[in-house]
Amino acid sequence: MQPKSVRPESVSAQALGWIDEATRAITPPIHVSSTYLRDADNQYRTGRIYARADNPAFDQAEAVLCRLEQGEQALLFASGMAAATAVFQALAPGDHVLAPKVMYWSLRNWLMTFATHWGLDVELIDMSDPATLQAALRPGRTRLVWIETPANPLWTVTDIAAAAKSAHDAGALLAVDSTVATPVLTQPLTLGADIVMHAATKYLNGHSDLIAGALVTRSDNEHWQRVRKVRAQLGGTLGSFEAWLLLRGMRTLHLRVRAACASAQRIAEHFCAHAGVVEVLYPGLPGFAGHAVAAAQMQGGFGGMLSVRIRGGEAAAIAVAAHTLLWKRATSLGGVESLIEHRASVEGAGTPAPPDLLRLSVGIEHVDDLIADLAQAIAAAHG
Ligand SMILES: Cc1ncc(COP(=O)(O)O)c(C=O)c1O
Repeated sequence: MQPKSVRPESVSAQALGWIDEATRAITPPIHVSSTYLRDADNQYRTGRIYARADNPAFDQAEAVLCRLEQGEQALLFASGMAAATAVFQALAPGDHVLAPKVMYWSLRNWLMTFATHWGLDVELIDMSDPATLQAALRPGRTRLVWIETPANPLWTVTDIAAAAKSAHDAGALLAVDSTVATPVLTQPLTLGADIVMHAATKYLNGHSDLIAGALVTRSDNEHWQRVRKVRAQLGGTLGSFEAWLLLRGMRTLHLRVRAACASAQRIAEHFCAHAGVVEVLYPGLPGFAGHAVAAAQMQGGFGGMLSVRIRGGEAAAIAVAAHTLLWKRATSLGGVESLIEHRASVEGAGTPAPPDLLRLSVGIEHVDDLIADLAQAIAAAHG
């Protein structure tokens, strides 16, 4: 194992320095067994019984993520949605929860339909304003505050430390969807959050070749024990091969995220001044509403996600996406290849995305190629 003092880059590059003692392999084997041998005296001394609840294939990825987020325990899930919904399913019907108006649309839909039918009292508020959160909290009734920062698709920034204080003062937990920030830029648990969630499908894996989710907790408490049971009993369990791929992806996390951040900053600055663009939404721009908070809680960059609003409205925005040659027209984010998407088409009715908005996930291609391709697509769309 590595010395405890090593930096996060070394933790992820070497997956904590783990070696398979049986073979001296420096990458882990893929454990595929669904079940484990019981001892002759009817005990399970390995602590493993059945792979829906626990699987040695998860151990390394969970340990690496736990260290990067500076948490106590981590759990992998079959998807980001499985991870996020487990946090809510560990609550009880009647519990009041607060979530942002601007957030990953599919989770917002689930909260307003399934979770609400199931009995959670879900309230969506403007999380970028600490006073709004403070006023919406109902001490003794609010059990969970959910935030996402920066948040899809407007990259709205929430002050994690302020939200944690307000939530805790009211007796609620704070959970943070930190998919876009990644542990490279922000460690929400060190700012007071109780749970951090990742769609590991995105930056943690980084290669657009698996669906996975993860949660990390600051402490092993009663709620976390229920989250663990939700995974074991509902079965939103990751496959062994996917866990192995995820660990491989995380080895290059820091390099990929830093490259994406540097390019996103350049792209944002470049298109700010472009005649075909109405507005660029990116926390790294000094004029962006959440810039100061982002600068305080994101270290080393403002993320690889930005949105551009195209002059000419919806039709012009869709035409720009149609003319890109390098940017791939696809949903998702956080992969090594850059993606472009007309977000309102994906989210449908009720989306906070203006119709002229294109969401950009910046990959690790040469930034000048990305700028040139977007510029030619804007020129082509505007005829
Ligand atoms: C910020 C964010 N959270 C959660 C999710 C859900 O993750 P998954 O698609 O792995 O279920 C996504 C997926 O796009 C996301 O972008």
